[in-house]
Amino acid sequence: MAIATEQPGVGAPHGGTPLDPHAIRAEFPIFRTTVHGRPLIYLDSASTSQKPQAVLDAVNGYYREYNANVHRGIYEIGERATEAYEAVRASIARFINAPDVHEVVFTRNATEAINLVAYTWGRRTIGQSDAIVLTEMEHHANLVPWQLLVQEKDGDLEFIPITDEGRLRLDVYDVLLRLRPRLVAFTQVSNTLGTINPVREMVDRAHAAGALVLIDGAQAVPHVPVDVQALGADFYVFSGHKMLAPPGSGALWARRELLEAMPPFMAGGEMIREVHLRRSEWNAIPWKFEAGTPDAAAAIGFGAAAEYLMALGMDRVRAHEHDLIAYALDTLRAELPQLTLYGPPAAERGGVVSFNVPNVHPHDVAQILDRFGIAIRAGHHCTMPLHERLDLAATCRASFNVYSTRDDIDALVDGLREVVRIFGD
Ligand SMILES: Cc1ncc(COP(=O)(O)O)c(C=O)c1O
Repeated sequence: MAIATEQPGVGAPHGGTPLDPHAIRAEFPIFRTTVHGRPLIYLDSASTSQKPQAVLDAVNGYYREYNANVHRGIYEIGERATEAYEAVRASIARFINAPDVHEVVFTRNATEAINLVAYTWGRRTIGQSDAIVLTEMEHHANLVPWQLLVQEKDGDLEFIPITDEGRLRLDVYDVLLRLRPRLVAFTQVSNTLGTINPVREMVDRAHAAGALVLIDGAQAVPHVPVDVQALGADFYVFSGHKMLAPPGSGALWARRELLEAMPPFMAGGEMIREVHLRRSEWNAIPWKFEAGTPDAAAAIGFGAAAEYLMALGMDRVRAHEHDLIAYALDTLRAELPQLTLYGPPAAERGGVVSFNVPNVHPHDVAQILDRFGIAIRAGHHCTMPLHERLDLAATCRASFNVYSTRDDIDALVDGLREVVRIFGD
């Protein structure tokens, strides 16, 4: 099955002058630290990304110069904080090409954004026997909230299976759509296999079957240009910490009419217009969904990260990571043919490579690599059902970001040679 990689709203893996990852890396102070006396080789960006000086400065600047609660203080620094916070919303809207800045709801992360949709839109919409279609490659964040919802409402979950190469079985998807599901929810880029899913095509098919679509963009926004209008989805969620921003920042984008019809998620201050002892009126969107004091510092870092990535150019980021993944797959195959690599070819994946070294537990692999200052992830990467489908307990995962270089991959290959030497071939 062919999967188009030049999808509308995703962007082709080419675009202008290549990025200079060495110059970019110099802007990330963490790479000046050493681990076990060696330079840090960070290959766990799919878990969380490192932060550039521009983001650290933005967060620090907020605390040092205008730390105040947002939307409250009628004084200079309070107004400055509110302005900066709302300017982030505009940056994020531009980053994903949202048509209306008020359609961007700040959340703590992708997980909270998915729960927001499940608890509000989901509780109101899903009834007995209603189906929600997910995929076998979902992160637990895009699975467990839907499990809770259908358990409560007596609905059904259905799953698009994957092929052995890690592509979605769109032929089975068509069959599942005949069940007339209320929602289709899937990841744009798999955090374990790296697969870039054909979002637009899947959204069109879902809409033709009468379903709404939620896209988990947690692994997409850091790596590929995202245009929510071109993707055509109804809900789009992502976390800041994987896209160079601080943890505690993230967003839900949804069409205005959906957000307006949805009841609030959390209740308290900020999300109200008027409160009486026995009833309240909700604030306008997006603030209706932003109860309580927000993490303004994280949000300000989120805006700085989006501006940083937009200045680099997301088409160039994609081209850089495409080069890295192609190099990683070719080099690992050539230098360590005994490894098992999972997932589709480079043209169809983001900057993630999961693999196993025969007869060596992934935790042992990660521990030995750590001795060389190399950080990879070992485990199920919050995709236990996907590992079950592949009949695996765990995998090793190396993942990239804008500051990753071919030298990192060469260091990984050298480290893996050592793993093979220690454990015997
Ligand atoms: C595809 C995908 N979705 C959702 C999440 C959850 O992100 P967070 O823990 O930031 O909410 C992750 C995190 O790894 C992910 O990779």
